[in-house]
Order: sequence, then C-alpha cells, then structure tokens
Amino acid sequence: MIVCLCHAVRDRDLDAAIAEGASTVEEVGRACGAGTGCGACIPDVEDRLAHGNGCGDCPRSLASVRSRTTEAREAAP
Ligand code: FES
Repeated sequence: MIVCLCHAVRDRDLDAAIAEGASTVEEVGRACGAGTGCGACIPDVEDRLAHGNGCGDCPRSLASVRSRTTEAREAAP
C-alpha cells in the first residue's frame, strides 16, 4: 500500500526504514523520503513509528492519504 504519494513510499518501505533503525519522522524521511514532500503522510509515519504495522487503524485507505495530500497542497502558499 502506498503511504506517501509524493515519493511513492509503500508501507513496507516504512517498515524497512524502521527495522533498519529509523525512530523519528525525520529519520524515516532521510531513509525513504516519506514525509519530506507535502507532509500529508506524516501522521501515517507517526502511527507506524508508534504502533508498527499492527495498529488498529491499519490499513489506512489510500483515499484518506489522497484527501490529506490534497488538503496540504491546497493550504501550501
Ligand atoms: S504524501 Fe508524503 S510527503 Fe506528501
């Protein structure tokens, strides 16, 4: 499942970054790019960091990521 539309980062890419030691949003961003574009996926990155792939909300729908991406782009100056 794509988590970050800006950089086409999949949930498994996030898991790999976290498994390799990324423990903050910034470290995940350096590892795979997630969260370094519009920022709409940052809540998903935070959820992944906090709960791994077993959080109660997973899998989040692509529609929710697209919605937040659109909102973030519209809010950008
Ligand atoms: S959706 Fe991840 S930075 Fe835009």
